[in-house]
Amino acid sequence: MAKFVATNPEAYEAYVGRGSQRLAPAFVRFAGVSVNERVLDVGCGTGYLTRAIAAAHARATGIDLSISYVDFARRTTADEKVIFDVGDALDLPYSDGVFERALSMLALDLLPDATRGLREFCRVTRVGGTVAVVVNNFRCGWTPFSLVWDAAAVLDPYGAAMRDEMVSKPLGWPGGLAKLFGVVGFANVVEEPLSAVFEYRSFGDYWSSFLTGQGKTGAMSRISKARYAAN
Ligand SMILES: C[S@@+](CC[C@H](N)C(=O)[O-])C[C@H]1O[C@@H](n2cnc3c(N)ncnc32)[C@H](O)[C@@H]1O
Repeated sequence: MAKFVATNPEAYEAYVGRGSQRLAPAFVRFAGVSVNERVLDVGCGTGYLTRAIAAAHARATGIDLSISYVDFARRTTADEKVIFDVGDALDLPYSDGVFERALSMLALDLLPDATRGLREFCRVTRVGGTVAVVVNNFRCGWTPFSLVWDAAAVLDPYGAAMRDEMVSKPLGWPGGLAKLFGVVGFANVVEEPLSAVFEYRSFGDYWSSFLTGQGKTGAMSRISKARYAAN
């Protein structure tokens, strides 16, 4: 299975950041973030959701496994009250119940064990608080990426394996997240589709966003390019 590469935050901005910055405010509204609450953003990446939480006047903490993404988030966040930590979503370095809400955008499906991850988000959230998660619907809702997988699947067996892996993740299908929340034991589960526009200036802007090697699709594009260059 392809690994998610998170080493170059500037490249991530062009790759997924251009969409997550538009998704974040809608997700903050969906999650009902309110003034002065302590709110955690798990898998914060370069920090768009964390900053959107702070913009709603909550006390925001973001955490991510990637040191370079967290460094970038710290450098690009003007609000000094926003906290960014490096850490593992499966073993969060926070006490039980310290946050009113735990949010996570485009990260739960990357964890080796999503159920364990969701339990961990729940542990750090106070009783009666809210846990809210966004994952991609890779099967029919991630168009800039699925165009690449479909083309790669025709050209390269590695591309075909990648596409099969991405479209076979039921967590992002309608009802998938709600089912997992039920398994973990949440009450009052609400599932709603959220969408964001990925805007590209040109085909070059679109295609180059995959060639910097970030994420899974970026890593695949690099491997495929190297394979063809070698032949
Ligand atoms: C697709 S990015 C999403 C980033 C950000 N939430 C956004 O929407 O732009 C997935 C993020 O999850 C992080 N991640 C992956 N596994 C993780 C783990 N076990 N613990 C914490 N973060 C993790 C990656 O480093 C990456 O920043």
